[in-house]
Amino acid sequence: MKKVYILTATLILQTILTACSAADTRGPAATADTSAEKAEAEQIREEKAEVKEEETMNTTEIPALRDCVPVEMEGALIGCEVTYDELKDPGVFDILTTHFNAVTFGNELKPDCLFGYRNSACPGTVEDTLNGETILVPKLNFTRAEEMLDKIYAYNAQNPDRQIRVRGHVLVWHSQTPEWFFHEDYIKSKDYVDPETMNKRLEWYIKTVLEHFTGPDSKYKDMFYGWDVVNEAISDSSGKLRTDAEKAEEKLTNDTHGSNSSWYHVYGSNEFIINAFRYANKYAPDSLELYYNDYNETDLKKRNGIIELLKEIKENEGPKGEGTRITAMGMQGHYHMDQPSANEVQVSAEAYADVVGAVQLTELDIRASAEYDGSEEMKEAENEKLRKRYNMLYYTLTSLKKVSGVNVTGITFWGTVDHYSWLQTFSEVGGGNTKNQPQMPLLFDENYEPKPAFYVFAKTS
Ligand code: GLA
Repeated sequence: MKKVYILTATLILQTILTACSAADTRGPAATADTSAEKAEAEQIREEKAEVKEEETMNTTEIPALRDCVPVEMEGALIGCEVTYDELKDPGVFDILTTHFNAVTFGNELKPDCLFGYRNSACPGTVEDTLNGETILVPKLNFTRAEEMLDKIYAYNAQNPDRQIRVRGHVLVWHSQTPEWFFHEDYIKSKDYVDPETMNKRLEWYIKTVLEHFTGPDSKYKDMFYGWDVVNEAISDSSGKLRTDAEKAEEKLTNDTHGSNSSWYHVYGSNEFIINAFRYANKYAPDSLELYYNDYNETDLKKRNGIIELLKEIKENEGPKGEGTRITAMGMQGHYHMDQPSANEVQVSAEAYADVVGAVQLTELDIRASAEYDGSEEMKEAENEKLRKRYNMLYYTLTSLKKVSGVNVTGITFWGTVDHYSWLQTFSEVGGGNTKNQPQMPLLFDENYEPKPAFYVFAKTS
């Protein structure tokens, strides 16, 4: 797909102005080391980067993002999130297959979807065997996920040199998991089960899902590169484990939750998290990477809580069938226009990599600035702010290896085109768009065309 990108005179001017005002685009090394010399060197580096970016934007061909992974991040996957409906949109499919070598399904591998969205009541039970014992388990429904996988499988078969790999998202999460899963006989009005019973359900669920998609007999076994084992287990407010008393609009016994945790309610500890990584290690092929994933991951209090948890997961590492395994920390990267700073992203990545060895940006998007109203008049300026913001992040991420030896092994954007972003939708829980403000957080616009921010990542050398 080759298209012409028309660079406007305004944008050239803005690019030059940006290059001249180093204070606007703080680079990671400059924030890490305050010495004047280093800051000056960093400023020169950024000016060069802006010039390089201008050259790329001037090109008449649109490079594919997946072919533009910088040497500093060699081998890193470049992914995007798509949902079931979006994958049916030919414009999204074209963007996915042209620009990305990895994909995360927005909802279709989450527990609520795999239980067929039967959130109000269990869809029925069947007998299954776990460690030689017969247990009664809820019926699973893989249809939506498989439909998406089949489409990508077919694409991969026809394009062996342009394979798209899949991130499994997510096995254990307080949200989008039916409440009945935690109760006796899978009936929401009955008591919560005890941790021993829940451990069996947890192990069965992880075993069944992982074997179905990555086991030796699975059609899809070569498609997955990794799986988010646990999502968002640390509280924003306490910086400790997310509990059943987490501040929330909804009741704990609602069908699913946005904030509070029935996992915690059953266990009262992090046992379910450690066990989830233990079971994932037991049933995943060795080649499948295993992750912990969280948001607000650059906030100091929350970061410290996540670090403590990662340390415990690491301390429990051991052989398959006995211990845990963790490959990387997923930094979701749902950022704002004005925060976190480059320095916060850098020190967070360093702290996580120090414990688990690598980080990935897993849900990257940037919320519009407070004053943005969606009008045509504001659009160009907002796009330029977005470009500069992504530029700062790009240089932070690409400098990490050199500055502090941190491996960034993947960047996934949470969406493709702006109009499908989750941020467009009003949501009172989970950090959605509480003000119904128009958003433009991604790299492609409503015409499926690359925006200026795209060229931050689409540098050809
Ligand atoms: C979180 C989850 C994702 C998704 C986004 C919002 O970050 O990890 O699965 O639900 O929120 O779309």
